[in-house]
Order: sequence, then structure tokens, then C-alpha cells
Amino acid sequence: KFLTMAALAMTVSAGAVAAACDDGEVVIKFSHVTNTDKHPKGIAASLLEQRVNDEMNGKACMEVFPNSTLYNDDQVLEALLQGDVQLAAPSLSKFEQFTKQFRIFDLPFMFKNIDAVDEFQLSETGQAMKASMSRRGLMGLAFWHNGMKQMSANKPLNLPTDAAGLKFRVQNSDVLKAQMAAMGGSPQPMAFSEVYGALQTGVVDGQENTWSNIYGKKFFEVQDGVTETNHGIIDYLLVTSTDWLDSLDADVRDQLMTIVSEVTEARNSESTTVNANAKQAILDAGGVVRELDATQRDAWVATMKPVWEEFKGDVGQENIDAAQAINA
Ligand code: LMR
Repeated sequence: KFLTMAALAMTVSAGAVAAACDDGEVVIKFSHVTNTDKHPKGIAASLLEQRVNDEMNGKACMEVFPNSTLYNDDQVLEALLQGDVQLAAPSLSKFEQFTKQFRIFDLPFMFKNIDAVDEFQLSETGQAMKASMSRRGLMGLAFWHNGMKQMSANKPLNLPTDAAGLKFRVQNSDVLKAQMAAMGGSPQPMAFSEVYGALQTGVVDGQENTWSNIYGKKFFEVQDGVTETNHGIIDYLLVTSTDWLDSLDADVRDQLMTIVSEVTEARNSESTTVNANAKQAILDAGGVVRELDATQRDAWVATMKPVWEEFKGDVGQENIDAAQAINA
């Protein structure tokens, strides 16, 4: 087994146990920000790693760096372009610098559930989005699901007016900033790895995320409760650099792409269950979950949906219509 000093140093600094790669194997470093075993993305990344290392032994070798140990999402796309890592799976909200097309996925109440997101992504329009950043050097390989977003704060949130004046952590996305402003909240963009500390110390009052992220990073422990708003989605693009992809031998690329699509199909169909389990785990741990009645839900929709108007030009009315047709 051959491990360069640079790789060793990186492994140590990342605090991860890296698989030692054989000389001549294509090294695939995959950096992400969630845990590995109770999260739709973490489980998918671990399965991908296991299958590549089993089935492509001698040709390729994958090392996953989870939990922001190597890069956070603000850094990882640059690291991909520099060739420091070969795979990443940031949420679709994190591609602001590269494309405005993905803004459709951040618009509140655009998709009624993850099945609707899946259908949209598998459409011709959705599939074309994977290559939409190729001129900028990024190539999407697959959409990976997480789930529906919920809202939490340091006080009960039953109506959107309860959020007025509160500071909410958001991913760095103009749509999400506009959404929080529509509720009268103050949006604070921040890396995922900093959210727990910011909630705990009161730098922000609240946040929005999926059950698996709220559970996986223990946000519920430092919030009054979580309101089941299902107001938006978090999904990912498994992404690489066009340069790296083009540099692979065709047989290596084809085998890798086959494994990627099999892992995608297997894990995407489980993402809703993983999130349901995380919600249950929050309840089991004594966390508070608040449900909305129909009138309350209508109020959230009425407050947030006007945000669409501002971003219609970026995402295209025809795409909004296509998404809405899937919901119907
Ligand atoms: C976030 O920043 O809240 C999420 O994108 C983290 C993740 O990867 O699920």
C-alpha cells in the first residue's frame, strides 16, 4: 500500500481514517458535511465508497471525508475545481455562484414532497440541469435526495408572524434570504458546521433544515421546538470537475458511473424513511415537534409563496409550471 506524505498529512488533519490507495489507482476524495450513518447523503456516500473500493479495487480508490472535516460547502466547489477533491455533494442551494437555475429548488412550497422533486429531476429539464455548469468546470453526476425542510426557533413557531424579528440561519442562497425576510425574520448565511454553536450561543434564534440534519447535528437540543412546516426541500447534486471526469479512462469512468447510478437509485428511494426515522429519534430524545393545522399551514403558504415572483425570471415560468403540474 502506498500513501504519500501529502495524503497522510491531509488524512491526519481531516481526522478521518482514509483507505490507503494502491499505486496506480485513481484516487477519489469525496468531501461532505453530514454524518455517515443516519443521514441520506452520508449513507449514500458511504455506500458509494464501499462499492468503489470493493468493485474497482486496483483501478480506483475512494476516501470519504464527512462532517466538514476537510471542507465546508463554501470551499468545496473551489477545491473540486483545483483538483484537491474529486467528488462533493453540496445542497442545491450552494450553487449560487455557478447557476441561477437551481433556485427553483429553494422556492418555498414549490414541491409537495420528495417524490415530486424526483419526478422533476428525472424529466428532460431536470436531467439537463446536471450539465448546466459545465462551462464553469463542474459536472453533475446525480441528484441525491435529503428531504423536506422544517422550521425551528428558540420560541414556538405556529404562525409565520411568530418569526417576526428573529434571526434565522440560512444557507447562502438569495431565495432563502428572501423567504426569511418575507416572514419578517433576519436571514444570517452561515456554514452548516457553525449552526449548532450559533443556535446555542444565541447568535441566531432559529433555522430551517430537514429532520435528518436537525437530528444529526442536534439542533433540536438548542431550540424550543421544531415546527413541521414541510415548506421547502434540501436536495443535493453529486458533482465533480469536468477536467477530472475527462481525464479518466473510459472503462473506469463507465464503471464509476454505473455504480453512481445504482447507489443513487437505491438510496434515493430510502431518503424519506431516513428522515422519518430522524423525526422519531428527535421525539424519542424528548424533542418537541409542532404540527400545523390547515389554517396555520395556509398562513405559512400565503406568507412565503409571494417570493416566487422575485425569482420567476431566474428559474423560468415554464419550469414552475412543470413543477406545479407534478404536484397536482
Ligand atoms: C445545510 O447547509 O444546512 C445543508 O446543506 C447541509 C447538508 O449538506 O445537508
